[in-house]
Amino acid sequence: MASIIAPSILSANFAQLGDDIKAVEKAGADWIHIDVMDGHFVPNLTFGAAVIAAVRAVTKLPFDVHLMIEKPELSIDQYIAAGADRITIHAEACVHLHRTVQYIKSKGLPVGVAINPATPVSALESIIHDLDLVLIMTVNPGFGGQSFIMHALDKLRQLTKMINEKGIGHIDVQVDGGINAETAALVREAGANVLVAGSAVFGAPSLEQAISSLR
Ligand code: DX5
Ligand code: ZN
Repeated sequence: MASIIAPSILSANFAQLGDDIKAVEKAGADWIHIDVMDGHFVPNLTFGAAVIAAVRAVTKLPFDVHLMIEKPELSIDQYIAAGADRITIHAEACVHLHRTVQYIKSKGLPVGVAINPATPVSALESIIHDLDLVLIMTVNPGFGGQSFIMHALDKLRQLTKMINEKGIGHIDVQVDGGINAETAALVREAGANVLVAGSAVFGAPSLEQAISSLR
């Protein structure tokens, strides 16, 4: 299966966000990964729906919106209106995860559930049938440029086993955090097909080269 490469604009230059998005599109990105942080669920604050709406016009690439916010059910509509093409919410941030997953699906968007490094794969047991994507966090969410947590490889293998045992058809398996050319090879091997990378793309001298080495 081909890899999907999703550069995270968290590592872009916010003073020229539109230009940076166009540049990664030209360099071969498949999705644009958008990290929304609320300063509560994670100790950092980024941007919200207004910024997403502003950059919607600069690219046709799918906007992969990763909500690192508490109570995402309160603002799903805003992100859809702003131009999100797919939405991922955190299992840890939702008391009624099933309801919020169904709500996003009812709006016609593919839905993902993310789990933090300390959340076991078993937390997905009763929801995985409803998902288009699972995001295994490979760092603790909140910041770009952190080191990859090796234990995530075991979780990817457990997830692959769960998907096979349950006979689930295609489901995207995404990883996010500390992904570079070396860790990309490890996560692919362990079952991931959607690779998010921030600093390894925007911090590289050549965007094209960075994306092709991840691929
Ligand atoms: C982390 C974010 C990531 C982040 C990854 O909380 O969800 O998307 O941008 O950054 P790198 O690739 O630099 O680890
Ligand atoms: Zn992310």
